[in-house]
Amino acid sequence: MEKIVSLCKRRGFIFPDSEIYGGLANAWDYGPYGVELKNNIKQRWWKKFVQEREDMVGQDAAIIMNPETWKASGHLDNFSDPLVECKKCKNRFRADQLEEAGKCPNCGGQMSAPRQFNLMFKTFIGPAEESVNIAYLRPETAQGIFVNFKNIMDTMRPRLPFGIGQIGKAFRNEITPGNFIFRTREFEQMEIEYFIAPPKKDKDWQTAFEMWRKEMLNWMAELGLNVKHDVYELNVPDGERAHYSKKTIDFEYQFPFGRKELYGLAYRTDYDLKQHAKFSGADLFCTDEQGDKFVPHVIEPSLGVERTVLAVLYAAYCEETTPAPNPSPAHSSREKGEENIRTVMKFPYWLAPVKIAVFPLLKNKPELVKKAKAVFNQLKSEYNCEFDDNGNIGKRYRRQDEIGTPFCLTVDFDTLEKGDVTVRNRDTMKQERVKIEKLGEWFGKKLK
Ligand code: GAP
Repeated sequence: MEKIVSLCKRRGFIFPDSEIYGGLANAWDYGPYGVELKNNIKQRWWKKFVQEREDMVGQDAAIIMNPETWKASGHLDNFSDPLVECKKCKNRFRADQLEEAGKCPNCGGQMSAPRQFNLMFKTFIGPAEESVNIAYLRPETAQGIFVNFKNIMDTMRPRLPFGIGQIGKAFRNEITPGNFIFRTREFEQMEIEYFIAPPKKDKDWQTAFEMWRKEMLNWMAELGLNVKHDVYELNVPDGERAHYSKKTIDFEYQFPFGRKELYGLAYRTDYDLKQHAKFSGADLFCTDEQGDKFVPHVIEPSLGVERTVLAVLYAAYCEETTPAPNPSPAHSSREKGEENIRTVMKFPYWLAPVKIAVFPLLKNKPELVKKAKAVFNQLKSEYNCEFDDNGNIGKRYRRQDEIGTPFCLTVDFDTLEKGDVTVRNRDTMKQERVKIEKLGEWFGKKLK
């Protein structure tokens, strides 16, 4: 874990938040490569689960919603964790996460009796800090979907089953955040509320639940996670599920600090729509072919963006002893003499923040730099590319390996004569010559 945190800082993936002021505990900022990685995850999720499906639409609701939402959803009454305080050192912990009940993990002191602590962040709307102006930062994106159910029914007229997807920030005043970006107070969710007809028998909701279970496993495989070995499906027992859920599967991932929840899949029944209909007075129902009204039930796949980033970073991280350099291409010998342990992020290509790095062999040869810039300009509209002329080729390869760039392309003296370049593969480190005019087609096959 330390190695990942250090690589993220050193190579511009993730920085401690507001670091020049000493940081803010458990808050993180995404640097140039981190934001590309995060965007690749969100864009792919959106394409796969919203755009490529006929039974899905998307939306983007506000973070601060009418506070009635949280009365109706049950979050004001139920969205809390048991908080205990050490009588000696005054540190606070979640009672259900203590290794030894009643004993402070910090100083061994005696703990107070637990009290329920609501996790929602409170704020005030407008200049007066009065109770009538209290509002909350949403603790889940889901409620933004439920409150728009009628708008979407009226405007899109979808047929059941159908789903609404949304990506956005959520906020929880966690008692014990930590483990880098695993548990933070501000994070992003990618959520789907998938509406189905009220089930006549269990099998009716179980079919939709099973379809989403498989979709989530496919998604995790696409991320490059070893689903067979590192993902565990926990059927959350009665009494431990959220107040709205009749069945929940937690997809746990084998993180460096243990097996922990990566994603959740829940059957929320008709709880939320019924609650919102009751509190708002709005008609939140569908009509069947006979003209009868009914409130749909909901299956909810819920995915955290940051936990995805962390799982992906961990799965991709590799340290390799490099084999003896291949003597054939002229400049491969530049890799000689470098450390023979290379750190390489083996992201699936679609996830890599930079897809192609373009190098002129030598920085002080204007004809090479000019040609390399021309190749860079040719490729950059299609792929996220990086131009690098700093240091020897071996060092440039190492830098790109550390950020997981699948291909490095070098313009050398032969390029000027023959019009071809060396392309080096991140995983095999094999090099091949490709004609400049064929690069579009060549990368198209490898990267699309
Ligand atoms: N709408 C359902 C819901 O919010 P949840 O299990 O509380 O369910 C869903 O959260 C997902 O959001 C989790 O599986 C996780 O990926 C992510 N998540 C939850 N709390 C988080 C936190 N404090 N920091 C980072 N990610 C979090």
